[in-house]
Amino acid sequence: MERTFAIIKPDAVAAGQTGEILAVIQKTGFRVVGMKMRRLSQIDAEGFYAVHKERPFYASLVKFMTEGPVVVMVLEADDAIKKWRDTMGATNPANAAEGTIRKRFATSIERNCVHGSDAPETAAVEIPFFFTASELL
Ligand code: RTP
Ligand code: MG
Repeated sequence: MERTFAIIKPDAVAAGQTGEILAVIQKTGFRVVGMKMRRLSQIDAEGFYAVHKERPFYASLVKFMTEGPVVVMVLEADDAIKKWRDTMGATNPANAAEGTIRKRFATSIERNCVHGSDAPETAAVEIPFFFTASELL
């Protein structure tokens, strides 16, 4: 079993899509190991996306991720990291496969409704960024 870190981003929470996205997560066979609603501070978002600091979209991404509440989650499954990336679809919804979350709900390459860790090393940093051991059940 593997664990990955997921976010339902502010666009999707504000649009009332949290329930539908959670339904996809559960139907796809993930076990939700941790889940909470948070409003990211500027510091949280800058730290979380520090890897993108030099990218032209960084400031806009930080502004987007702090605009409203998010749902942060830890998801468990066999091959959870790849399975969740496949379930999300491509970063740009224009390139996302039919049936993926981003195809269904994302409105732009930035406002793309969900996040997922991209590698085991990333998940190992992202999970403790938001969850203590006792919050993972
Ligand atoms: P994420 O990290 O959120 O799961 O998304 P990802 O791996 O598919 O995409 P990544 O390249 O890591 O980019 C992180 C987030 O930055 C925003 N973005 N905007 N305007 C742009 O060209 C652009 N490119 C990326 C998206 O919100 C993307 O998910
Ligand atoms: Mg990424």
